[in-house]
Amino acid sequence: MPPARRRILVTSALPYANGPIHLGHLVEYLQTDIWTRFQRLAGHDCLYVCASDAHGTPIMLKAAEQGLPPEVMVENYRREHLRDFSRFHIAFDNYHTTHSAENQQLVERIYARLQERGLVDWRTIRQAYDEQARMFLPDRFIRGTCPACSAPDQYGDSCEACGATYSPADLKDARSAVSGTTPVMRESSHLFFRLGVFEDSLRRWTAGGRLDPSVTAKLGEWFAAGLRDWDISRDAPYFGFPIPGATDKFFYVWLDAPVGYMASFANLCESRKKSSQPIVFDDYWNEQSAAELYHFIGKDIAYFHTLFWPAVLEGAGFRQPTSVFVHGFLTVDGQKMSKSRGTFVAAATYLEHLDPEWLRYYYAYKLGPGTDDIDLNLADFSARINADLVGKFVNIASRCAGFIHRLAGGRLSASLANPALVAEAAAAASEIARLYEAREFGRAMREIMRLADRANQYLDERKPWVLARDPARSADVQAVCTDGLNLFRLLVLYLKPVLPDTAARAEDFLGTGPLTWADAGQPLLDRVIGTYQPLMTRVDPAAVARMIEASRPGAATNDQPESRPVTRATAAAPSADIIDLDTFLKADLRVATVLQAEIVEGADKLLRVTVDAGGERRTVFAGIRSAYDPATLVGRQVVLLLNLAPRQMRFGISEGMLLAAGDDAGGVFLVTPDPGARAGLRVR
Ligand code: 2FM
Ligand code: ZN
Repeated sequence: MPPARRRILVTSALPYANGPIHLGHLVEYLQTDIWTRFQRLAGHDCLYVCASDAHGTPIMLKAAEQGLPPEVMVENYRREHLRDFSRFHIAFDNYHTTHSAENQQLVERIYARLQERGLVDWRTIRQAYDEQARMFLPDRFIRGTCPACSAPDQYGDSCEACGATYSPADLKDARSAVSGTTPVMRESSHLFFRLGVFEDSLRRWTAGGRLDPSVTAKLGEWFAAGLRDWDISRDAPYFGFPIPGATDKFFYVWLDAPVGYMASFANLCESRKKSSQPIVFDDYWNEQSAAELYHFIGKDIAYFHTLFWPAVLEGAGFRQPTSVFVHGFLTVDGQKMSKSRGTFVAAATYLEHLDPEWLRYYYAYKLGPGTDDIDLNLADFSARINADLVGKFVNIASRCAGFIHRLAGGRLSASLANPALVAEAAAAASEIARLYEAREFGRAMREIMRLADRANQYLDERKPWVLARDPARSADVQAVCTDGLNLFRLLVLYLKPVLPDTAARAEDFLGTGPLTWADAGQPLLDRVIGTYQPLMTRVDPAAVARMIEASRPGAATNDQPESRPVTRATAAAPSADIIDLDTFLKADLRVATVLQAEIVEGADKLLRVTVDAGGERRTVFAGIRSAYDPATLVGRQVVLLLNLAPRQMRFGISEGMLLAAGDDAGGVFLVTPDPGARAGLRVR
């Protein structure tokens, strides 16, 4: 019996509509999109909504800076974000805005219910005020000297230099980031949501394993510290919704932002009202709803989503989330994204240089269900895509399709040569589904690549290219290649949540129509397939480097064609004296496999790497620590200069050199042979 069809509503955090989407944002949208695509392929009703987060002081000030009404600026960004998301194949069912009529109605309805139940009250607080700009200042808009370490120009709530947190009143020589004047303290009445009332029910909601253990642990700390009531109002001037019955008071952006999830959904219900598949708002949001509700978020906003939001929903008589899925931050080459290093890459800049599906796969490969940060290692990115997607996955189709056309008129054989092998790969569907469901994407990718390895190994064993030399063996070649293409078809299905565009082109080529999880067990036989067109190209590490260059401050955008022909005029002048071939051939360069890699205590730049060059084992000290996590190097192939005279270094003897490209400014990139090269092969 097929599993019951679930009704699932999924959201990603609403991005602020005041700046471009970047690779850090994309971790979440890609994680969510992969999960929702998987749910749909598994046969469930899964809706994915999102919206622009349109309100708040930073948005108001940014719009003023741009000389635009905030409504216009947020709509501009909303469109830009949606365009970028679509290019990354992120398939929202609806992408709305929190500055909408639906959201205002819902916020007012929620506020009315909280009022009725005595869950909000007005209190007087003292807050920093800018007399020149005539506005109260959020902590982030006060700058000054850190009271703990005296670092200059720190935010009003925390110090980036020493990590101290404090109140703006403690800051030395505080000044307003809006006008530069010294703020004064002023009283104002604010609306508070009584979070403490919900402590017991929040403890119950968070118990019972609905959250990842890392999130539950964090919640334990927050409960221990005590739940403080939450200020949900802001004074005018503010871009947001006015609080009914109050003068010059607005709802704080963080109250109306999560309500934006509901508003975007309400807007979707409205647009589907007359369709063949109408959706009913209450079916998803009333207290008794049997639908599942999941929020994907980053760990910085877990407090809002695991405490404030479930409490507000309960207080207002709505259902609570089934779970909140929290991910970590993105680092690039092991460090925080940085504008000066060019690693703060906008989605649009990435798209000028690289294929969106490469990033989808790389993030999937790195993602798990927990809150650990994920690292985009730029050298590993190219190597991983080239090895897995080009070298293993699409390679299977390109190895088989030609023979089917040349020897069998494009027709697959009527039966499989090795049904057990294909059945084994089809049986993996349930384990891969389990991994997707559990957001164990990295493990799912490894399992899929294990199947790809097995398929390639099978082709290596059966050697259709050798069989094809004997005209009497055409039927065997056809059958072996039919096996290969059936294995490929399963890999297409398993990778479809991650590579929707490649999967669609592969479905066209195989003539399968849109594959779903239910199709795994049904082999593709006795039918004509299309001609194979390359489904994926290799990553050119030079394009990655160009993307980083284009992301540095001052770099012009749109000025980097994908591949620039090298003409005499633009070719770099040779940087060294000319050498003859004999001199070059003196260098004994070998393919080598990394056996061990470790950090060298006391050396910032070095890794101690032991490699096997086909029986010759060498240990070298390589200056690649800034770009490589040692754990990711083990098993990887590199190129070793074998006959370099051993050098005594402070940490030991270096017995050769690993080839890498790069300079201090542009990072370091290990040279890697194409997949299939055996350790010990001479490189020339
Ligand atoms: O942190 C942020 O980027 C917020 N704009 C996320 C809002 S998520 C939700 F609550 F709307
Ligand atoms: Zn400090």
